[in-house]
Amino acid sequence: MDRPGHEIRLLKEGYWDHTAVVEMPDGSVRVRKQAKSDDPDKIWGVESLRREIHFLQRHAQDTTRVFPPLLEFWDRADESGNPQVGYEIPFFTHHRDVGSFAREAQLEQNTIDDFQEKLAEALLMRVHHPVTDSPPLSRHLKQTVHEALLGLTHDPLMIPLVEANEITLNGRPALGPRAAWDKIVNETEHLASLDAAPTVQLHGDFFLENILWAELPPPAHIPQLILIDPVSVAGVVTGPAVFDLVKYESYATGELLGLRSEWVDVSGFDESGHSNEFHYTINWNEPGLKPFRDRNWHGVFHQRFVDHHGPINRRHYQLIDGYFSVAMALNTSGKQRKARLLKAVAEFADVLGQ
Ligand SMILES: Nc1ncnc2c1ncn2[C@@H]1O[C@H](COP(=O)(O)OP(=O)(O)O)[C@@H](O)[C@H]1O
Ligand SMILES: [Mg+2]
Repeated sequence: MDRPGHEIRLLKEGYWDHTAVVEMPDGSVRVRKQAKSDDPDKIWGVESLRREIHFLQRHAQDTTRVFPPLLEFWDRADESGNPQVGYEIPFFTHHRDVGSFAREAQLEQNTIDDFQEKLAEALLMRVHHPVTDSPPLSRHLKQTVHEALLGLTHDPLMIPLVEANEITLNGRPALGPRAAWDKIVNETEHLASLDAAPTVQLHGDFFLENILWAELPPPAHIPQLILIDPVSVAGVVTGPAVFDLVKYESYATGELLGLRSEWVDVSGFDESGHSNEFHYTINWNEPGLKPFRDRNWHGVFHQRFVDHHGPINRRHYQLIDGYFSVAMALNTSGKQRKARLLKAVAEFADVLGQ
């Protein structure tokens, strides 16, 4: 599609979309994000970007904005009928995403604590407004976990674990992921309890890489903290508040980086299905995780979250954590896939075991 201006810097070549800094004919710069709609497999990304635009439009009316203003957006079909969906927001030259700050470990803990205070204020006061017409999250969880476990059985290495009844994980008895999930769905009230929790508007993809922060205070009209990239790829925008906490802590503790980078030990996978002893640990001593050992990116935020929403229901937390793990097991491969699936087993065992 012919939008004016030309790309001067790629920000992210994502699976679903392409995000870049663009220089406009008048010399100004902005960020342009476009869905990769030429690939029929990626049509999901188009829907997801539409929801993101819709979310940012709704927030445009907020006077105390925490999301960037939409400068432009479009949704049309090209000559071949392919949808062309995209939007533009200002490029924040004083800001960087907080994931990059966290991985560098340059900031002092008191600066990080100050950041967490401001982040809690932005999320809890500006985003987590109560909503009453939220579709039950359990419906989405049931469908996603079911489909992900089915999808994983296309991988011969995963079949024995997915279909196992009883296994041991790190020496502890546990049900296989499908058996555990079926039990949660059919024999417990945990999903009903999750649906009964108060629902709020969520960020939906709330983690450090989707938060921009300026180390030095920016010019007066620009906020120091800006939230970007709302809405989870699965389209969750409302639900229990803990949904955003789970995602935030998975990254802020270093766990997500450990999984993504495969700084994990996994064992027990064997196509014959004879093994039912599995092990899974994150290598917390890995040098790449040192920044997350040396600095705490979640403690202050967690406390503010509890002050606002009340004590965390651990089962709700583990249900959502397990759901993310299974969904991401399907979308990854190799050691990471094994680790994600075993993490889901551990979460589901905790849901069932307390
Ligand atoms: N307006 C912006 N100003 C500065 N950096 C940005 C801006 N928007 C995005 N970025 C950078 O680009 C990255 C990817 O953008 P994002 O919207 O999160 O795309 P994706 O959906 O692919 O994750 C962000 O993590 C951040 O580092
Ligand atoms: Mg992002």
